[in-house]
Amino acid sequence: MAKRRVAVFVGSLRRDAFSRRLAEALKALQPASLELDLISLDMPLYNQDLETDNPPAAWTVFRKRVAECDAILIVTPEYNRGMPAAVKNALDVGSRPYGTGVVNGKPCAVASNSPGALGGFGANHQVRHTVVFLDMPMMQQPEIYLGGVDKAIEPGGKVTADSTKQLIEKFLAKFADWIEHNAPRSA
Ligand code: FNR
Repeated sequence: MAKRRVAVFVGSLRRDAFSRRLAEALKALQPASLELDLISLDMPLYNQDLETDNPPAAWTVFRKRVAECDAILIVTPEYNRGMPAAVKNALDVGSRPYGTGVVNGKPCAVASNSPGALGGFGANHQVRHTVVFLDMPMMQQPEIYLGGVDKAIEPGGKVTADSTKQLIEKFLAKFADWIEHNAPRSA
């Protein structure tokens, strides 16, 4: 069977982001049936005027990469108990122009993280709220709220604890199944 391509939204723009570590850990542990593509969300804020005038090149590149994928995996930190602007912006840019959004309808999963104990629960569930409107089937279980991410994953994406590695592997195996059951018919 052909591999399913997964657009991984790296939800932090920070150079040494723990979210990138988590994205790299997911990539390192991807099952044979998935190909994870880590995508930076560093692009201008959505402005509807620019669609017709002059869409920023970064939007076009982002949309093309996401369009080439079968599914979306959002790796998000938590800002003030919600998702960072970069993640919301990516969903906004990816959902427009109306009727031709590249995220709409695609199977989706979210993995939140924080150096704190709550693992980005608020951000995780805010993402779930938004993707419902975009008709994106969101995997329910297993959930990843990775607290203490600064210790759980080393720079470069090496996972320190077997229990975290096992959770990531289980999450990705289930996501692979989820994609098969929920991929748009045209994918
Ligand atoms: C944070 N941080 C944070 N952490 C958390 O667990 N819950 C929260 O609500 C917030 N709020 C918050 C707001 C803002 C504006 C910043 C900059 C930070 C701390 C956050 O988890 C920490 O800075 C992480 O390192 C951010 O993720 P990356 O960039 O390492 O992926």
